[in-house]
Amino acid sequence: MAENNKKICCQNLWKIFGPAPESVFDLIENGASKQELMEQTGHVIAIRNVSFEVQENEVFVVMGLSGSGKSTLVRCINRLMEPTRGSIYIDDTDIAKMNNQELRELRRHRLSMVFQSFGLLPHRSVFDNVTFGLEVRGEKKEARYKKSQEAIELVGLKGWEKSRINELSGGMQQRVGFARALAVGSEFLLMDEPFSALDPLIRRQMQEEFINLRQQLKRTVIFITHDLLEALTLGDRVAIMRDGEIVQLGTPEEIVCRPADDYVKEFIKDVPRGKIIPAHTIMEKPLAVITSDQTITQAIEEMDKKEAELTFVIDNSGVLRGTLTREQASVASRIKSTKAGETASQEFPSTAPDTPLEKCLQLVAEGDAPVAVLDKEHRLLGVINRPALIVALQSGDGANDGK
Ligand SMILES: Nc1ncnc2c1ncn2[C@@H]1O[C@H](COP(=O)(O)OP(=O)(O)OP(=O)(O)O)[C@@H](O)[C@H]1O
Ligand SMILES: [Mg+2]
Repeated sequence: MAENNKKICCQNLWKIFGPAPESVFDLIENGASKQELMEQTGHVIAIRNVSFEVQENEVFVVMGLSGSGKSTLVRCINRLMEPTRGSIYIDDTDIAKMNNQELRELRRHRLSMVFQSFGLLPHRSVFDNVTFGLEVRGEKKEARYKKSQEAIELVGLKGWEKSRINELSGGMQQRVGFARALAVGSEFLLMDEPFSALDPLIRRQMQEEFINLRQQLKRTVIFITHDLLEALTLGDRVAIMRDGEIVQLGTPEEIVCRPADDYVKEFIKDVPRGKIIPAHTIMEKPLAVITSDQTITQAIEEMDKKEAELTFVIDNSGVLRGTLTREQASVASRIKSTKAGETASQEFPSTAPDTPLEKCLQLVAEGDAPVAVLDKEHRLLGVINRPALIVALQSGDGANDGK
């Protein structure tokens, strides 16, 4: 098997609420829907045969409408609830087999929850709240102070340590909840709609901070939201749930570019594609490419052969040294034995492979040249041409035809 760094693994998970969950599986196997089961037996299918794996340091987002089973799923993962069927592994440990002591250890040291309703102590200070988790697990005062202070600074609450929770705005309270989870230093964060109660503006701000923070802190995160844009912006991968089932699991661009069914299609209809789809998904092979030690004559030949108006000039390791248009080449051709590399223009639009298309659009709009997609070492990976960009930015089915 390939190397695998999966951290959380759910296998064929079911959660059915009601007096006798096992008794209704026959009906389910015969095709009863969530609604039918509810009407006929009073049982609710909250999770329906869900399987997924979360990789180390991944932000795995679970997205779905109210009632689709998101909170039930995270509650099963930290074993606040027992699944009806199926198993959950953290690393390679089956959490159903953990005894109370092991479970306490897991929750105190390795796995933190951040809820929408923060569960803070309203009459105590920011500092006391942040330090609470460390206190519970009996850490020494000095270590507690240091870790709490760091977490408070990370979420931007420096200076507010002594304020009481009930004197803070909702957004600030949210940060306290977040800081408390960070202070514990858990490898795993389970975040259930952490930003849902916030005003749109503060919410955007928290999302941005979350993105910045995750680059600093390596954590494995399961993030729950009912907001698709939030899901696509924050998630490395997103699982879309409906009626307890995962209807699609994929990267944000897979979901936007290849919605699995009409349900997902309807969801993504209004998503600003330019913010989600990265440059590499639409890049093409450059028409004309020559190496920097080739001559201007060869550059012109290459452009003729490929019917191109411009050629890219790369060195032997693939690093882009510049571009040459026909015009530049024809001016230079009058000077004998000039190498393409010496003449190539350094002024070409370029971008990184993960840049959202929205930003590429600006580059394309500024000039006629195709945009070079370069890796970190400035090697030429491909180009973005205007037609492909326009097709990709159009929402709806049209953009999916090309594959
Ligand atoms: N304790 C419970 N007893 C009975 N049914 C429950 C219980 N908890 C949840 N449910 C049902 O399970 C389903 C999934 O609920 P869950 O809270 O997981 O949804 P959710 O996706 O988190 O929704 P929301 O976005 O509103 O938080 C719902 O149909 C809900 O009514
Ligand atoms: Mg919920």
